[in-house]
Amino acid sequence: MAFTELKHPLIIDKLTRMRKIETSSKDFRQNLNEIAQLMVYEIFRDIKLVPIQIQTPMVETTGYTVDKPIVLVPILRAGIGMLDGIQTLIPTAKVAHIGLYRDEETLEIHQYFAKKTENIQDSYVIIVDPMLATGGSAIKAIDIVKSWGVKEIKFVCLVAVEYGIDRVLEKHADVEIYAASKDKELNEKGYIVPGLGDAGDRIFGTK
Ligand code: URA
Repeated sequence: MAFTELKHPLIIDKLTRMRKIETSSKDFRQNLNEIAQLMVYEIFRDIKLVPIQIQTPMVETTGYTVDKPIVLVPILRAGIGMLDGIQTLIPTAKVAHIGLYRDEETLEIHQYFAKKTENIQDSYVIIVDPMLATGGSAIKAIDIVKSWGVKEIKFVCLVAVEYGIDRVLEKHADVEIYAASKDKELNEKGYIVPGLGDAGDRIFGTK
């Protein structure tokens, strides 16, 4: 459907902190969660509400509630780094998980884990993964979520490049992609440039 770069001064400031090589794993995680939270706030600006009758301490009145449950789907492992921030904003969101790995010889993406939530097909689903590089993992994750019967899918990442965005939208034109930044290019190893390095390693301090 569309690609949107969410340019907000606070997001740009936090992303710059994350890009710096000297940023600690703790600060990297904190900024990632804060950005994810700000992004989701913006993404759901137009979410549908339905009226409900409620009783305040004073009177009965009409309130409004989001019309469908929200399910977050982190792609393991880096997607986990965006969960806390989003769940701070939407504590009722449930979490499904997708684990993927790339066969280093064939370069094909394979699923090693997938656990959906109950009635996920009747929910708003947000797949989260910080880096949209070649698009292989995103396409596979969307394939899996669609196989669960989900109709409305948003893909939320931190940094994306045109190559990956185009590949995902070619295969899944109905998915909305959001990123905090569209970066310049991919290098020969599939890393985003200028990017921020290996997001998983920086989140989990594995390097
Ligand atoms: N995955 C990462 O963690 N970083 C990149 O730059 C590309 C893919």
